[in-house]
Amino acid sequence: MVDFLVDVAQYGNVRLSDATEERILDDLREAAAALFDAPLRSVAVVGGASEALGQLAILTAKAGGEALLVASDFPSVTYPWLVARERFGTVVRWVEDSPRQDLTSALVDGIHSGTTAVCFSAVQYATGSLVDVGEVVRRAHEVGARVIVDVTQMAGAMPVSMRSWSADALVCSGYKWLSTHGGVALLVVADELRECVPPIVGWKGTERPFQFDPTTLALATDARRFELSTIAYSSAAGLSTSIELLSEVGFAALTGHAGALARELMAATTPHGWTPFRDLDAPGASHHIVSLRHPTLAAPAIQARLAEEHHIVVSSRGGGIRVSLHAYNDSADIDALADAMGKASR
Ligand SMILES: Cc1ncc(COP(=O)(O)O)c(C=O)c1O
Repeated sequence: MVDFLVDVAQYGNVRLSDATEERILDDLREAAAALFDAPLRSVAVVGGASEALGQLAILTAKAGGEALLVASDFPSVTYPWLVARERFGTVVRWVEDSPRQDLTSALVDGIHSGTTAVCFSAVQYATGSLVDVGEVVRRAHEVGARVIVDVTQMAGAMPVSMRSWSADALVCSGYKWLSTHGGVALLVVADELRECVPPIVGWKGTERPFQFDPTTLALATDARRFELSTIAYSSAAGLSTSIELLSEVGFAALTGHAGALARELMAATTPHGWTPFRDLDAPGASHHIVSLRHPTLAAPAIQARLAEEHHIVVSSRGGGIRVSLHAYNDSADIDALADAMGKASR
């Protein structure tokens, strides 16, 4: 990222020629295709997950259609459907992410003959709940509903496979588990959606963007038609690098590492009264996002104390302390966190 920025700052278009810029995202698209186990033609690089989620909702929303969403999902996953409700009269139905029910079953049970779209995060940002995407897709496709899945809180921490899921579209921001800076996200569209004209198009979505023909809409035949404009190329450079690094470690290994740390975390914090949103052994619990709850202590106050008194960065989300466990964490981090939570719990 630094090399890219220095190059652009010091040499500008001497180094970033039109020809170079036209091909600048090719490597990232290839890396993303491997990351998501998806065909290269289905991959687009966009400026943010919210942008892609908006495009997909407007593309697939129907008057008289019905979208099934998770009531506590990340707002960018649900807001476009609230817009579709206003614009087209799409009906919005909600399922709850509750520790009393597996979120996969809640979604599967919520799908009926009138459902036209199911849109959700595969790992919920606030609770860490994990959805079996393939199960939801199987049920949704039985009734002809499309499935749009956001893997922002999953990819980079767990394996992702569009081929085995057969979802209609996947969206992933770059700055969470994939570890780059903001301003870049990945979109994967199955063939049927790839052939549609996106609701918003930009100059980068044509087959040859540098031919600048404003009177003809010659969209790329692959998913690049969803690419709009000059995104944060430095973030894209960071994303290519981080996908390579994380892939070398291996996503199954990363899942296992987070699982081991999550168990250490629970062993050390349960004596202080903290319990996870879902039992770690439940199939609907991810291990890289552990949301800790306490019967009497409020998460925002504990989070603030951990940051101010112990310099430990966790988040307060959805009523819990959200602990995010990635490749760079180790048992010493868990010991420090558990010790600090013990002190903050007294
Ligand atoms: C599930 C999910 N989707 C989307 C986003 C936002 O992505 P972007 O800022 O690229 O729109 C986030 C950010 O936390 C998220 O957790």
